[in-house]
Amino acid sequence: MPSSRKLFSDSKKVIPSGVNSPVRYFEPYPFFTKKSKGSHIWDEDGNRYIDFCNGYGALLLGHRRKEIIQAVSKQLTQGTLYCTPTQSELELSKLIIGNFPSIEKVRLVNTGGEATMTAIRLARGFTKKKKIIKFEGCYHGAHDSVLVKAGSGSAHNGISVSDGGLNEVSKNTLVVQYNNAEDLEKTIRKNKDVAGVIVEPILANMGLILPENNFLSDIRKITKENNVPLIFDEVVTGFRVSPGGAQKHFGIKPDITTLGKALGNGFTIAAVGGKKEIMDLLSPGGKVYQASTFAGNPISVSAAISSLKTINKIKNRLYAKLEKYNLLFTRALDDIATDMKIPHQINSTSSMFQIFFTNKPVINYQTSKNANAKKFQKMFNSLLKNGVFTAPSQFEVVFLSDAHTQTDLNKALDSYQIALKSVKN
Ligand SMILES: Cc1ncc(COP(=O)(O)O)c(C=O)c1O
Repeated sequence: MPSSRKLFSDSKKVIPSGVNSPVRYFEPYPFFTKKSKGSHIWDEDGNRYIDFCNGYGALLLGHRRKEIIQAVSKQLTQGTLYCTPTQSELELSKLIIGNFPSIEKVRLVNTGGEATMTAIRLARGFTKKKKIIKFEGCYHGAHDSVLVKAGSGSAHNGISVSDGGLNEVSKNTLVVQYNNAEDLEKTIRKNKDVAGVIVEPILANMGLILPENNFLSDIRKITKENNVPLIFDEVVTGFRVSPGGAQKHFGIKPDITTLGKALGNGFTIAAVGGKKEIMDLLSPGGKVYQASTFAGNPISVSAAISSLKTINKIKNRLYAKLEKYNLLFTRALDDIATDMKIPHQINSTSSMFQIFFTNKPVINYQTSKNANAKKFQKMFNSLLKNGVFTAPSQFEVVFLSDAHTQTDLNKALDSYQIALKSVKN
């Protein structure tokens, strides 16, 4: 790929590591994208890929979805930024609240990280307590409170994973094991200073890890009994798992919810919402400060309104189709890997899946870490060579979109078959 190679070499001179987000880098160099449409993405060398990365889950409706492009084009003729309230923000807020019964009030922000940062500050402001509990392996953005690492075992104080990240901040983040409600209960009991618990209801940042049996209902019960606000980080799962996110799917009501990604179907927008009594603490009415020049910007808001209206209009067909495609694809993939006698696990739900090269079920951070990442890398490289773009890391997820067709999936399956052969050898 001579064009991508040259562009990467030039980019490295002016952009740190040549990329604007770390996960975009892979060896020997990432392809540079020229355009996208529907279920495909094209690089600067003219190669076309079936897109299984889909903006890390953002593009639920596919690239350049007609309804969204029309809405955004119309807004472009009206203005791009006002920094005043707009009727559109009101309309979008009502749409979000309509889909998420746990959300009584919502504030629009720009990114998922901004949403979780605000959610955590709200929890601290509400409880006047300090400590946050997160689950091992969950990712909530690149800010100090959640960018923490803990050893295996339970309830470690967080240590920043980043130079420059303050341990004075991250030591207030306690890390417990995903799919282990007992661990959470013990930690809450031991620490009287817990301001909130944040969780990805479906863990999509260690590959894909599903919540076991009563895990989510148990952590809801534990947090309620201990008066600790529960934050569902639905930046990935919101609108993707159902029109009302994972909370609707599992029938659980958190106190605070964060949304992003599929909310704008490719445009920069996110949201934090929840109970009135918590949300009303936000400034200027309350004392929890949060602000942004670009929050509620008319372009992203028009994209999100169109996105949510489209989702709500086609929801019966949309979620049934995605689920069916995902099920058929992962079953076929499982058959291929089994026939080849490759030790593997496939975790999948709604429109997401991941394959791990391991004998043991993948249910938390450690079991995901134990899978063979080298084999995953081999598979990724082969898939790319054969026209399928997945996220380059074992710890990401394959996302399907409404734009994928049966033909795309058949082609992708052929590529996986070749890729799995390369893994076997
Ligand atoms: C569950 C979850 N929360 C928050 C974030 C951060 O979102 P953003 O990258 O928009 O800041 C991500 C990003 O991948 C995520 O997966």
